[in-house]
Amino acid sequence: AYCSCVIGHIFGCALTCALSCSAEIEPWIHRFRAEGTVDYSQLTFDPGQNELIVGASKTCHFMMFFLMCVCLQEAEWHCDEFTKGACFSRGKSEEECQNYIRVLLVNGDRLFTCGTNAFTPICTNRTLTNLTEVHDQISGMARCPYNPLHNSTALITSSGELYAATAMDFSGRDPAIYRSLGGLPPLRTAQYNSKWLNEPNFVSSYDIGNFTYFFFRENAVEHDCGRTVFSRAARVCKNDIGGRFLLEDTWTTFMKARLNCSRPGEIPFNYNELQGTFFLPELELLYGIFTTNVNSIAASAVCAFNLSAITQVFSGPFKYQENSRSAWLPYPNPNPDFQCGTIDYGSYVNLTERNLQDAQKFILMHEVVQPIVPVPYFMEDNVRFSHVAVDVVQGKDMLYHILYLSKISPALDIRY
Ligand SMILES: *[C@@H]1O[C@H](CO)[C@@H](O)[C@H](O)[C@H]1NC(C)=O
Ligand SMILES: *[C@@H]1O[C@H](CO)[C@@H](O)[C@H](O)[C@H]1NC(C)=O
Ligand SMILES: *[C@@H]1O[C@H](CO)[C@@H](O)[C@H](O)[C@H]1NC(C)=O
Ligand SMILES: *[C@@H]1O[C@H](CO)[C@@H](O)[C@H](O)[C@H]1NC(C)=O
Ligand SMILES: *[C@@H]1O[C@H](CO)[C@@H](O)[C@H](O)[C@H]1NC(C)=O
Ligand SMILES: *[C@@H]1O[C@H](CO)[C@@H](O)[C@H](O)[C@H]1NC(C)=O
Ligand SMILES: *[C@@H]1O[C@H](CO)[C@@H](O)[C@H](O)[C@H]1NC(C)=O
Repeated sequence: AYCSCVIGHIFGCALTCALSCSAEIEPWIHRFRAEGTVDYSQLTFDPGQNELIVGASKTCHFMMFFLMCVCLQEAEWHCDEFTKGACFSRGKSEEECQNYIRVLLVNGDRLFTCGTNAFTPICTNRTLTNLTEVHDQISGMARCPYNPLHNSTALITSSGELYAATAMDFSGRDPAIYRSLGGLPPLRTAQYNSKWLNEPNFVSSYDIGNFTYFFFRENAVEHDCGRTVFSRAARVCKNDIGGRFLLEDTWTTFMKARLNCSRPGEIPFNYNELQGTFFLPELELLYGIFTTNVNSIAASAVCAFNLSAITQVFSGPFKYQENSRSAWLPYPNPNPDFQCGTIDYGSYVNLTERNLQDAQKFILMHEVVQPIVPVPYFMEDNVRFSHVAVDVVQGKDMLYHILYLSKISPALDIRY
């Protein structure tokens, strides 16, 4: 079963989306379309009211503004003329100097949302039942990308901390995983340090147990022959409060590992670039859609990872490079049974149980996270899928995992 979507006039007032589906799934398709709207890249669900919230951008001549639609509700979010003018003066185009929603999170009875706002990101807190009612407006810096083309992810924990993985600056050269708001001190990944993050494209984030997990793809620092992209799982402890003297305002629990999704063979065929994920919390199972590297032949595959396999790799040895000319070697994990505990150093400052020198030195795990089965569940050549969603349904005598895959059509490669 399949659907196809043809998009035209992306920057024009009239967006036409002709969606045609094969007959088997046609009865289950609901269509949402608003005149002149583009960039439906952010969707979120409000379980309280059973409503789908859509972040989109609307084009009309020289005015482009934001539209959020919760079935019958609509809220517009413009960028002001002064901000747009400042954006133009920095050499950005009309299309770039608009407000693109990049964070859309349901938080209790509020909707927390951030937009690029003409390269001056801002965030607002709105009432879910009345989206025009804005409670707070705060800076979107380190919470939302400046550039609508930069890939980012964010989540809010039940205690109100916002974890965002995004480019922190106008040029997009300073990527970070950043925690803010809530009651804990703001923390980030080390700045301009390619061992922590190396030109990442952030894909997704999840709040799981004592950790926050991030999934992304990035240039592989450990790969010494030529430039290549690897997929990663990274995590931090939610109770991390940063270091003292060393790693001040920086994570002390950040670790990352490579995810492997390959077609086995004498020379395995690698699907190196993670594009989308779907997490089944009850099964602690992560599905990922992977593609080949951009400059090689297009192909996609779906692999599933057990959270316990990811945890196991984080308990194993690190991959460590003494200096930039030396080889990457395995190094035993100084805390193989690491938990997110804290150590009380007296007065009022607690540190995590990780030694700060180690926390600065050991970032990358030596072992690679392998999927549940060595052969991907799904493989297709000549196509690059971008999203995966999974539904677990009861069959006659067993549970089935139904995978939904989607791709951005060529006309939408520019993701406005
Ligand atoms: C948003 O509203 C919630 C609920 O009132 C509040 O706890 C939170 O601090 C607000 N967030 C921001 C960023 O203002
Ligand atoms: C929604 O909030 C706006 C702005 O605070 C207010 O003017 C409007 O009356 C509210 N609408 C409803 C239905 O409460
Ligand atoms: C963001 O991800 C999309 C989809 O994988 C990709 O086409 C695009 O180039 C990425 N953006 C940047 C700035 O790398
Ligand atoms: C995931 O790992 C756990 C613990 O090793 C195991 O009990 C479970 O069966 C695994 N799940 C799948 C789907 O393989
Ligand atoms: C979270 O960490 C605490 C120690 O700080 C530990 O006692 C607890 O079992 C951990 N919870 C989970 C779900 O791992
Ligand atoms: C520091 O640790 C002690 C003992 O584990 C705990 O009672 C205290 O609440 C912690 N303080 C902070 C600021 O987390
Ligand atoms: C990745 O998986 C493939 C297929 O299962 C395997 O042949 C290959 O050795 C794995 N690569 C790494 C780096 O673990």
